Amino acid sequence: MRVVVGVSGGIAAYKAAELVRALQRQAVEVHVVMTAAAQRFVQPLTFAALTGYKVFTSLWEEASDPGAEQKGIDHIAEAQWADALVVAPATANILAKFAHGIADDFLSTLYLATTSPVLVAPAMNVNMWNHPATQANVATLQDRGVRIIEPGTGELACGMVGEGRMAEPEAIAAAVLGVLGRRNDLAGEVVLVTAGGTREALDPVRFIGNRSSGKMGYALAEAARSRGAKVILVSGPTGLRAPRQCEMVQVTTAEEMRSAVLARMNDATLVIKAAAVADYRPVSVSEQKLKRTGSMTLELAPTEDILAEVVRRRRPGQLIVGFAAETENRMENGRAKLMKKGADAIVVNDVSGEGVGIDADTNAATFLSAATSVEMPEMPKRELADRILDEILALRRPRPLVAEFGEHQDAKTRDEQSAQDRVLSESMPSGAGRRQLIVE
Ligand code: CTP
Repeated sequence: MRVVVGVSGGIAAYKAAELVRALQRQAVEVHVVMTAAAQRFVQPLTFAALTGYKVFTSLWEEASDPGAEQKGIDHIAEAQWADALVVAPATANILAKFAHGIADDFLSTLYLATTSPVLVAPAMNVNMWNHPATQANVATLQDRGVRIIEPGTGELACGMVGEGRMAEPEAIAAAVLGVLGRRNDLAGEVVLVTAGGTREALDPVRFIGNRSSGKMGYALAEAARSRGAKVILVSGPTGLRAPRQCEMVQVTTAEEMRSAVLARMNDATLVIKAAAVADYRPVSVSEQKLKRTGSMTLELAPTEDILAEVVRRRRPGQLIVGFAAETENRMENGRAKLMKKGADAIVVNDVSGEGVGIDADTNAATFLSAATSVEMPEMPKRELADRILDEILALRRPRPLVAEFGEHQDAKTRDEQSAQDRVLSESMPSGAGRRQLIVE
């Protein structure tokens, strides 16, 4: 595994040396990139000695070398070399550059050029951290899938006490290993994702639809792709850009979505039905635009339940996961839906709250299968997508015969939990990511 550690200019720069060490102890090969400001705090020589590699400090420094042209694209070569990029410490300045796509030094160009997972460990004065500009930049990065390793609270270099202390190097290394653990864990899988809402025409210009933005399904497609799966994305109309390297199938109606899914489901090893499919369609569609002629009654007919049909036609080994959008009795309805549809799992969303669920950038969910119920607290949809994929993969693993683990787990169970699960649950707010095994 190969990691680029980016060091930007903060007093915590010296702790990056410990991070390099912590990663190397886990057999990770490390390269280091430093910004100009970082070099005011720590000499590149420190990192060169630790890693045994040249430290990248500038896009241009080698311009007088005979091989200068080659050096000019070092940032691209590094971007491709890295299995992950972690920036620690990440200053307010580098977060702002990343968020706005400013590419004026080695680290910021490398960030834009890499398609590997990116983690940042912010470190700065408490007021700088709390400033709306910084918080907006962090939110932007988080929405794009950058993993934020939250700073801790304590005494800061400036003498103030508050949030802004860089996370400990061991915790940062653990987060990096957690992300790397997911790399390519879906290689060989073909994931069919449905996303967005369908539209059922009333006349040439009107339709019955819903507020689904497609963001959750697109995040799942993107996450599955970045974990090595071949992805087929069947999408209703959305305003979203197609995720890269996915086979895109655009549909409009529930019936078109059904045909597209049934035609491709045999290729899939995993089907995730995140789409908000219309439950009803108008019995007749007017060829001409309907005129206003007083009150009107629409006759609707139910659409086919695509998820139920996919379950009926499944082939052995195929995993099928549905979603459930609920506004009341979330768990009860979710469990009933799991039984009724016969899927391997249902991701239950509460769509009644502000800011979560339909059309929002964040979501909270409960992952329900016959044997487990995993609470996933509110987080960006891209992060939630990875958590959902983690749980889907866990369906393939045999389950230990333990009644419950989470907050009350004993040491043995904890050891049995994968390193990745540990990193995830430790990086969540308390009580989050709690997993309950239901023994029936
Ligand atoms: N679904 C489907 N075809 C439909 C309706 C829903 O495949 N015609 C799928 C959705 O993609 C989702 C799951 O079924 O994965 C549950 O969708 P949801 O709208 O929550 O439930 P419904 O089955 O429509 O039940 P209800 O609206 O009565 O809650």
